[in-house]
Amino acid sequence: MQTLEMNIELINEYDKSGPRYTSYPTAVQFNTDFTLSDYKQQIQLSNMNNDDLSLYFHIPFCDTICFYCGCNKIVTKNRSRAEPYLEHLYKEIEMQAALFDSKRVVTQLHWGGGTPTFISPEQMTELMTVTKNYFNLLFDDSGEYSIEIDPREANKETIILLRELGFNRMSLGVQDFNPDVQKAVNRIQSIKETEEVIVAARDSGFHSISIDLIYGLPHQNVNTFTDTLTKVIALDPDRLSIFNYAHLPEMFKTQRQIDACKIPSAQIKLEILQQAIKQLTDAGYVYIGMDHFAKPTDELSLAQNNKNLYRNFQGYSTHADCDLIGLGVTSIGKVANCYSQNVKTMDEYYNLIDNNQLPVFRGVELTADDLLRREVINQLICHYYLNFEHIENQFGIIFSSYFESELDELINMQQDGLLIIDKDISGSITIQPIGYLLIRNICMVFDRYLVDSKSKFSKVL
Ligand SMILES: C[S@@+](CC[C@H](N)C(=O)[O-])C[C@H]1O[C@@H](n2cnc3c(N)ncnc32)[C@H](O)[C@@H]1O
Ligand code: SF4
Repeated sequence: MQTLEMNIELINEYDKSGPRYTSYPTAVQFNTDFTLSDYKQQIQLSNMNNDDLSLYFHIPFCDTICFYCGCNKIVTKNRSRAEPYLEHLYKEIEMQAALFDSKRVVTQLHWGGGTPTFISPEQMTELMTVTKNYFNLLFDDSGEYSIEIDPREANKETIILLRELGFNRMSLGVQDFNPDVQKAVNRIQSIKETEEVIVAARDSGFHSISIDLIYGLPHQNVNTFTDTLTKVIALDPDRLSIFNYAHLPEMFKTQRQIDACKIPSAQIKLEILQQAIKQLTDAGYVYIGMDHFAKPTDELSLAQNNKNLYRNFQGYSTHADCDLIGLGVTSIGKVANCYSQNVKTMDEYYNLIDNNQLPVFRGVELTADDLLRREVINQLICHYYLNFEHIENQFGIIFSSYFESELDELINMQQDGLLIIDKDISGSITIQPIGYLLIRNICMVFDRYLVDSKSKFSKVL
């Protein structure tokens, strides 16, 4: 079990921008030299490996805008916009499915957004039916089938329907229950409507319920966030994500509606985080890593204890590396040794699909060095431990020579108490509790591409 320690002085010292490593290389490295024929070649390779499949569906619509939002979404009150989108999505499902071996089992499925429940109950049913028609879904509830829920856009009936459709995990957007914060970010959401969804999810047999919160929003301070967390803990979620507010108004226009003077200072943000960690730990939650907490009995905690935790675009997962097919506008896929991404605008998406073309517009084929570094970063992020021999056996390298300069760079971190490098016997790096919150900084040492892309990422904490 992880016990997290926080040293504000050290965090300030290491404070810099960095990626969240939901992929390596990160999306900054995706490029348009990667073509459809590269993508198809990787699919052929993946069919030979015959790994399980993961399907991600992006439903981009939201009814109202939350000013802080950094997600890929389209804000509209016009519900009829979902119809042509879904028609194109169905066609994309058909085109993608034709390339993959139909026997491959879908062990993971995720609807993300935007707001997936923006679409009507009939459309939800239809989307799942079309998916079932083209892919080999699991019907015994053993898959990780999850959905992002905005409690303002769902009620008891929606939840019962989603359960019937096969979903067994959900994450709920809350962010903060404080009225001043909610007003400042244009997201008014009562505890009652949130609770109604959670009760319905429990009653209908969802396996795991997660709540998303954000720290660093306007008007937040230690007291307000403590109060929000008390209310959230009373709702008894199985997991919690506490995201650091990424304020990048140059990139996300709507964030310009947030009064920057009302955003807590870096010092207050760290105090909020420190208090949140204490409060959650006192309430019995375990720190999984990278903003995620879970009950000790939750499968994420159990997987971490058993050293079979994985990381993917949705965060942490208990399922081994699947090939991921990203469906819908902006979606990212990971197939064999490549990442690929769909076009980002609706017009492009519709045009390509109308011309019977897959909407993939960029990607990256991983080199042997990328694959090796990805495994190193994954091990560190999921287990706070890296065994050199494990990597040597898998990739045929001598760890201490291949990563000589990286190991030298880690010495400062070792002196600061973040980690212990053991060069004896099989060789290892063990991250210390004080280094858990700085895991991104530690992984950044192994990231070959970071030199010119740092400014594109948000602050680590
Ligand atoms: C696609 S949204 C969640 C689903 C749903 N649309 C909702 O809002 O309830 C995923 C999560 O990303 C987080 N998020 C969005 N923008 C963020 C930002 N700028 N910084 C940090 N976290 C952010 C929020 O916690 C949000 O719940
Ligand atoms: S946080 Fe969720 S509901 Fe709000 S704008 Fe972003 S995607 Fe839409």
